[in-house]
Amino acid sequence: MSSSVPECLVRTLFSEVAEGLPCFCLERWQSLHETRVKVLLSESGVQPLTVYELAEYGVDLRKVLSLEVGYGWTKGSPELRERVSELYGRTVDAEGVVVTNGSAEANLVALLSTVKPGDKVLVDMPNYMQVPGLLKWVKAHVIPLWRSPPAWRFPLGEALELMRRHRPKALFVNDPNNPTGTIMSERELDELAQEAESVGTLMVFDEVYWGSELQGSRPSILEVAGAEHALSVSGLSKVYGLPGLRIGWVAGNRETANKSWSVKDYITIAPSVLSDYVASVMLESGNVERLRERARRIVKSNLETLKEALASGEGVIEPYWPEAGAYLLARIPWSGDTLAVSYKLFTDYSVLINPGECFEIPGFVRIGTGQNPSKYGRSVQALINALRDIVNVH
Ligand SMILES: Cc1ncc(COP(=O)(O)O)c(C=O)c1O
Repeated sequence: MSSSVPECLVRTLFSEVAEGLPCFCLERWQSLHETRVKVLLSESGVQPLTVYELAEYGVDLRKVLSLEVGYGWTKGSPELRERVSELYGRTVDAEGVVVTNGSAEANLVALLSTVKPGDKVLVDMPNYMQVPGLLKWVKAHVIPLWRSPPAWRFPLGEALELMRRHRPKALFVNDPNNPTGTIMSERELDELAQEAESVGTLMVFDEVYWGSELQGSRPSILEVAGAEHALSVSGLSKVYGLPGLRIGWVAGNRETANKSWSVKDYITIAPSVLSDYVASVMLESGNVERLRERARRIVKSNLETLKEALASGEGVIEPYWPEAGAYLLARIPWSGDTLAVSYKLFTDYSVLINPGECFEIPGFVRIGTGQNPSKYGRSVQALINALRDIVNVH
């Protein structure tokens, strides 16, 4: 297959957008392509809910009509922060929660309020890649910790050793991990937390996929380590099917939370009051388990569909079956140029997936598994047919 990715697209995806700040390849790739395809398999969350469905979960639409559309609570309403505190089994109190515009803003404010130029930080790789990009921008001294194939597990031994050796300011982890779909066990979280505490490293965990574990459950880092040494970033976009609310949060101790809140003053000031109200209902206790169950049901059903479709796929992709998340990482055994493969899928077949190049792992692709199960079979069949076609002319 000839690599036909236009030079200008390559430049866009892999150059700097401001001095020191690399292009956020994954988000740019999606922004440029996701509204222009027939088969969308690039999403990492589960099928979003409709406003009708919100009402079924107890959102009072008449109350929405009478809400005053003011600035509201800049840190998030007390009700919503209470709900978030409950989500963590009250290991963090409501004053230690700052509500943000998506977990993307939560990552930004947590990082800017924690890291300064030259600080040594350990970073779990691959990941969503927002944090590594921002760390380059703030000129931190980054020490990567790679999850590697075929198991893609968090390299705990290496992390412990590097923490002892470097006593880093912070450790950034994305678990459940995007894109590998692997999760750390409670024992691993505990060992990591003990070492971090003894060397004085703050653990900043992006846990936006927490609650999507397909078998059993994984506790939050806050439930294992407590709020003194850990910050959890999460939100409603992925597992809860509510990305359009743009509700995320940073949860930790009051001091670190308040620093994040102060950074947020510079960025978006406050979350939307409409979203704040809806989120506080959607996070009522019965709803949390119901939404997590919905996510697991969708993903499990789609993974079965994908398994069946791949049986006839003659090795066009090699999947790594995930433990969590609403996506699957796969190797393309016949091409290391997965940007070219993904671009060809887009231009010639109107199918969108994510190239591994955006996660610094060329040779792999990420495929969404959270779409509406009634349409998923057709989508994956379109993907497999297209890949077969591409291999044949390869
Ligand atoms: C690990 C991770 N963190 C954060 C985000 C940002 O999500 P949002 O801002 O929609 O909550 C994403 C989106 O894909 C993600 O995968």
